[in-house]
Amino acid sequence: MFKQVSKQLAFQATRNFSTSKQSNFKVTVCGANGGIGQPLSLLLKLNPLVTQLNLYDIVGTPGVAADLSHIDTSSTTQGFKGPEELGAALKGADVVVVSAGVPRKPGMDRDDLFNMNAGIVRDIADAVSKNCPKALLAIITNPVNTVVPIAAEVLKKNGTYDPKRLFGITTLDVVRSRAFIGHGNNVDPQSVEIPVIGGHSGVTIIPVLSQSQPKYSKEIEPLTKRIQDAGTEVVKAKAGAGSATLSMAYAGARLANSLLRGLNGERNVIECSYVESTVTEARFFSTPVVLGKNGLEENLGLPKLNDYEKKLLVEALPELQKNIKKGVDFVAKS
Ligand code: LMR
Repeated sequence: MFKQVSKQLAFQATRNFSTSKQSNFKVTVCGANGGIGQPLSLLLKLNPLVTQLNLYDIVGTPGVAADLSHIDTSSTTQGFKGPEELGAALKGADVVVVSAGVPRKPGMDRDDLFNMNAGIVRDIADAVSKNCPKALLAIITNPVNTVVPIAAEVLKKNGTYDPKRLFGITTLDVVRSRAFIGHGNNVDPQSVEIPVIGGHSGVTIIPVLSQSQPKYSKEIEPLTKRIQDAGTEVVKAKAGAGSATLSMAYAGARLANSLLRGLNGERNVIECSYVESTVTEARFFSTPVVLGKNGLEENLGLPKLNDYEKKLLVEALPELQKNIKKGVDFVAKS
């Protein structure tokens, strides 16, 4: 009886994060002691595809690693603390997830984090080049629209850039859309499919509600605005204590799991992610992509857009291009 129940619990805990085949992957979380990093590391500790989980942060990671190491899943965890241990944390990683950096406070937008977070992502990308140049690098740190181009430029400078291996995590926009549509329609959010394209801030977030399955049963425009402002909704509710951590950790773990499933040879793994592409005039743009053994296998391009969504795209592009240029200029001047 006990065996049955614990088997069932283990299944439930890993339902969203598992796959049929088993493999051995090393994952490094950068920012693992933070509000996102801790729950993200917990979810990755539950992922049967992860064999070695390395936790890096400037402080606190030995404690987080010791704590997680008491969980009865087979992966091993190790904590790495301070810039001098960053290289060791990254050595040989297959997937690196970056949540390091400072969160927003009420009244700030994601771009206001640039001064604090740009250098952090630059230095981690530099260390990735040197210690695990073939790793899939997935970035949560805000402003995603700008720090992903920063990582690309740093990797490029170091001669290790492969656009198929760099991902901005916009998964939370998809997760939120599924939640809002599911609850709005009174159906299981897990059964909702919807592409969210563009970037990860304000008007650059374009939920393609015309392609949602099932269709949203209420008014489209207020839901679009709610998805675009959902991060701010959490920032306001947390009233000075930061931004989304738990839902972001869930979203990061979902993308990491999909990257691992692709690496593991599973076919038809599709996620929306902010990647380098020629789909629009913006050099980086989130679209549905197929993930595989080399990271991004195929960019599925723009979904079919209705007139309202075409208008959203027109609004998003100049803002996105401005965000991207800021990142490129930062590295050029560094
Ligand atoms: C989010 O979407 O919740 C995150 O990007 C955090 C933020 O600042 O909004």
